[in-house]
Order: sequence, then C-alpha cells, then structure tokens
Amino acid sequence: MSEDRSERQRARTGADSHLPEVRLRPMRIADLDALMPFEQLMFGPEAWSRQSYLDELADTELRYYLVAESGAELLGTGGLITIGETAQILTVGVLPAARRRGVGRLLVRALVAEARRRRASEVLLEVREDNQPAQRLYAAEGFAVLGRRRGYYEQGRVDAITMRYEIRRDTAPRAEEPAQ
Ligand SMILES: CC(C)(COP(=O)(O)OP(=O)(O)OC[C@H]1O[C@@H](n2cnc3c(N)ncnc32)[C@H](O)[C@@H]1OP(=O)(O)O)[C@@H](O)C(=O)NCCC(=O)NCCS
Repeated sequence: MSEDRSERQRARTGADSHLPEVRLRPMRIADLDALMPFEQLMFGPEAWSRQSYLDELADTELRYYLVAESGAELLGTGGLITIGETAQILTVGVLPAARRRGVGRLLVRALVAEARRRRASEVLLEVREDNQPAQRLYAAEGFAVLGRRRGYYEQGRVDAITMRYEIRRDTAPRAEEPAQ
C-alpha cells in the first residue's frame, strides 16, 4: 500500500488500522441480517431483538442509526435519539473482529456530530459499570461521568454509569467530528 493511501486510512479510522477504508452511512433494515448474528455476542443481556431494531429504524424523526462498513462488510453500528436539546446515545457496537481500530471512536464522533446538527446542547448515555472498554472510549471522546443508576441492568444486579458530553454553541464543531 502506498504511503498516501495508508495516511488516508488512518485519517478515516482514527487509528493505525489494517482495515480497508471504513465508511459510515445510515442503517437500513437490510443491515439487520448481518447485524443480528452478532447482537448477543456484542451486548449479552442487553442485546436487542430484530423487532426492537425495526421499531427503532421506523422512527426517523427522533432517531438516527448508523453503520460502519468496510466494502460490504458490516463492522459496527451506533444509534442516537434527540429530544429537544438533549441527545442520547442508544447503542454503539463494534464486531469483535474489528475492534481497537478506531471504528467505535468514528461512530461516537458521528453520533455527536449528528446531535450537534440537530441543535442538541448535550449528549447523554448509560454504560454498564463493568464495561471498561466503552467507558474509556467515551471518556477519550470527551464524555464526563455524571452519576450512577443503581441496578439499571440485569434485574437490579449491575449499575449504570451515566455520562455526558456538552455541545458548546460558541465553538465550531471539533475538527474530528466527521462532516456528512
Ligand atoms: C466499546 C466498543 C464499542 C469499542 O469499539 P472499538 O472500535 O474497539 O473502539 P476504538 O478502537 O474506537 O477505541 C477507541 C478508544 O477507546 C478505548 N478502548 C476501546 N476498547 C478498549 C479496551 N478493550 N480496553 C481499553 N480501552 C479501550 C481506548 O481509549 C481506544 O483508544 P486506543 O485504541 O487509541 O487506545 C467495543 O468494544 C464494543 O462493541 N463492545 C461491545 C458493545 C458495547 O459494550 N458497547 C457500548 C455500550 S454502552
């Protein structure tokens, strides 16, 4: 691979990746065929059903779902809901084989950029207290810990950490939020 192309690749994925070019686009119902076999593996007890995704995708007004792909290969997904000035990240998942190559970071940045476009002033999320990879990803992207929801997961057994990203109106979008 030429020096040039490899530079471009790093720019797209935000990592020193060996993946071919990663592209983000809105999720379609047809993507569920590729996603559902990995849903349980990625989210365990928090996995969503196909019907849940269908319901989510049907609401294009408040909700915004993305896929990351490389060629025709699904790498990950992310979803956001925006109500008034508050956006919430509903899901971010990267297939195990594609992890630690910047795909999760790319998805989070794109969701934050969409929240900004929708005029939100903050982006909230919940993450399992035992999910260090996700907490580190969000912290690295500028989310701060807001608090804890006791027993939010697994019938009261696992707490959620709530995190918040403030969207500043007096600044331009962060350069790293991808334009779409
Ligand atoms: C969390 C998740 C989305 C991260 O996706 P990813 O594509 O591997 O993440 P990235 O490569 O973009 O990582 C970006 C940064 O996040 C942090 N991070 C990601 N995975 C990590 C891990 N396993 N351990 C420690 N830090 C991690 C690092 O700071 C990383 O930067 P670095 O690679 O330069 O050190 C992925 O592990 C996943 O899908 N997990 C299962 C589903 C899930 O838990 N989703 C979140 C629900 S709230």
